[in-house]
Order: sequence, then structure tokens, then C-alpha cells
Amino acid sequence: MVDDMLRTPGAVRDAERWTAHNYHPLPVVISSAEGAWLTDVDGRRYLDFLAGYSALNFGHRHPTLIAAAHAQLDRLTLTSRAFIHDQFADFCRELAELCGKDMVLPMNTGAEAVETGIKVARKWGYQVKGVPAGQANIVVAEGNFHGRTTTIVSFSTDEDARADFGPYTPGFTVVPYGDLDALTAAIDENTVAVLLEPIQGEQGVVVPPEGYLPGVRAVCTERNVLFIADEIQSGLGRTGATFACDHEGVTPDMYLLGKALGGGIVPVSAVVANADVLGVLKPGQHGSTFGGNPLACAVAVEVVRMLATGEFQRRSAELGARLHAGLRELIGKGLVAVRGRGLWAGLDIDPALMTGREACERLAERGVLAKDTHGSTIRLAPPLVVTEEEIDHAVTQLAAILTA
Ligand SMILES: Cc1ncc(COP(=O)(O)O)c(C=O)c1O
Repeated sequence: MVDDMLRTPGAVRDAERWTAHNYHPLPVVISSAEGAWLTDVDGRRYLDFLAGYSALNFGHRHPTLIAAAHAQLDRLTLTSRAFIHDQFADFCRELAELCGKDMVLPMNTGAEAVETGIKVARKWGYQVKGVPAGQANIVVAEGNFHGRTTTIVSFSTDEDARADFGPYTPGFTVVPYGDLDALTAAIDENTVAVLLEPIQGEQGVVVPPEGYLPGVRAVCTERNVLFIADEIQSGLGRTGATFACDHEGVTPDMYLLGKALGGGIVPVSAVVANADVLGVLKPGQHGSTFGGNPLACAVAVEVVRMLATGEFQRRSAELGARLHAGLRELIGKGLVAVRGRGLWAGLDIDPALMTGREACERLAERGVLAKDTHGSTIRLAPPLVVTEEEIDHAVTQLAAILTA
């Protein structure tokens, strides 16, 4: 098709004109999708190797999830939490059971789950641990990404995320990620929680050294501090286990979940913990109009059931091994490093060759969509329904752009 007959350039221009520029998307305009594949407004097809930053772990429009959404749309969509609806208890119970915890507090976005976790930890600190009023602190890691609210960006170490959004929320101590001694030294008698991503996604899929997460678990237990695992991106099958913490046999006190929990259809997030932690909240102290709505619960309970079979975790582990083997072959041939677990990889492109952004643009031209982060890094996170052939295809396209 000749260029001036394409719909993409005009659609890109309109999007630029009518939105705040808080994102820098690739110039691809998607109009439909199925499984691991996307189709743009000009009929070009792409393999989705980002999967909505892991919100699409089950692929686009998974039939089970779409059927659950349709059925619920035809019956009941919203009640608010002023009343109880018939999808609520099943979702909360089945998610609590998947996590091995007592109870669930549903919200919508990941950032809301993080905010909820922070509020619960502070209240637990004052009411259970006995921290003096207004003195609670939470230890977090350098390179963290927990969302975009004012409190969360207050403890970001990424200047783009943080600069000019002050005054900042106090009560956070930042330590290097993966350094157990630094984390232990930062804990004092007023520390209520350690908040960590078990793998730092936005930072470039950074896996901490072996033994770090069990070490954090042990020091939290010893010092009566809550271990909050932000599994919003790493959880729900992405790494080849239900949670990234599972790889080291670690159970946090609180799971923060989001993204894939909504099946790529609705925003659903949750805080999952035991009653001695989540039980500190009383009516009126926290909430959300849309949190735990019937449509969200109807879809999310099917997500939980799909994960309960273990099939997606297995696929992620097996196909992830294939993906990582393929990527490792490219080290020294345009890649300088590959990190990750399961179907999740952070690749550092040789900066002498191109930026991460350029790599993603070239991959898009070859029909594979991924996203860059921090200069020369790109992230791959295909839906867990991807096939061996599709993985091989994406790795072949990557090899081609690195040597072109
Ligand atoms: C680890 C982690 N926590 C929290 C968030 C924030 O989630 P949301 O964008 O749904 O607010 C993200 C999003 O990328 C994330 O990766």
C-alpha cells in the first residue's frame, strides 16, 4: 500500500495532538487482537512481546475470560461496596486460597494496591507493633517502580518519575536493591514494612542475587516488620511460578497484585494478606467505588481458576527456558546481557549499535512489538499462550536487527 493510503500516520498525529505527552508510544495503531497477535489499522500483524506490561498474561481476548465478561455484562456490572454482589465472595476466597492467605482487599490499578499496602502497613505499625504516632517508616529499594501516585513517586529513584512532583511524602528509606546488609541496617524500631519487587521489571527485569529474598524474609520476621512483595508485574505466572517469590520458597506477609488479575479486560488489583494484617482496616478507613465490582470479580475469578491449574506457570517455565536459551545465543552478537525468569526478559543492547528505542522501532518494522526502558534495555514479556514457533520467530527477528 502506498504511504498516503495508510491510516497509521494520521491516527498517530491525532493521538499526539489530543493527548498529554506522558507516554512516547511506538507509531503503531492497533485495532484488533487475538492470543499473541495484534493487527493495526492498516491490516499489518504483529507478535505482542510486551503483553500490556504483563497485564495480558493469558493473551488477548482469551475465550474463557471473554465469555465470563460477556455473561457478567448481561447481568450486573456495578453495585459499589455499599452492597454485596454475588461474584464478590468467590473471587476473594479463591484468590486468598491461591495466595495461601486469609483475605483480600480488591482495588483497581496497581498503584492503588501499592497505596493500600502502604496504608495497611502504617496502621498495622501503629496499632499492632506499637510504633509512636507519625513515626512509621518503610524500607524500599533503589530502582523501584511501584506506580505513579504522589506518595509512590516520593520514593522513586528515577528523576523522570519524581522531579517537580514534590512536596514528597515522608516515611521511606531507600537502600540498594539486592544488598541485604544495607536493608538490614536501614531497619529501625519504627520500621513497619519492607516493600520490594521480587524482580524489578521497569528497571530492566533485574533479578536479585540468590538468597536475597529469603534473607529479607528472615530479617523481617526477626525484626517484626511486614514483608510486602509487589508482584503486580512479576506475579500470576509471568516468571514460571505463580509468584516470583516462589522460586526461592519465600512467602511475604502481603502480596500486591494487579495487571494480569484483570485478564487484560478490566483493571483489577488486590492486596492479599492474613487477618492479623488486613484486619486492621475498619469501615470508612479505605475503599474505592469500583474496587471489587461485579465485572472485575467475574473476570478475575476466572483468572485465578486458570492459574490454579498450574498450566500457565508450566508454559511460562518451559517456553521461558527456550526464550532465554535463544537470547543467550545473541550475547556478544549485539546483546551485552540478558536477565529474567520464565517468559520475562530484560536485554541490554550494545549501546554502540543502537538505543533500546531504535531496537524496538526496528523490531516493530519486522512485526514484533516490545518496549524499551532506561536507554539501551528492552523488555520482552510475551503472553503465556505464545507458542515455541512464535518465540523462535521473535528471536530470529531480534538477531536480524542486531546484525543488519
Ligand atoms: C511492579 C509494579 N508495581 C506497580 C505498578 C503500577 O501499576 P498500575 O500502572 O496499574 O498503576 C507497576 C506498573 O508497571 C509495576 O510494574
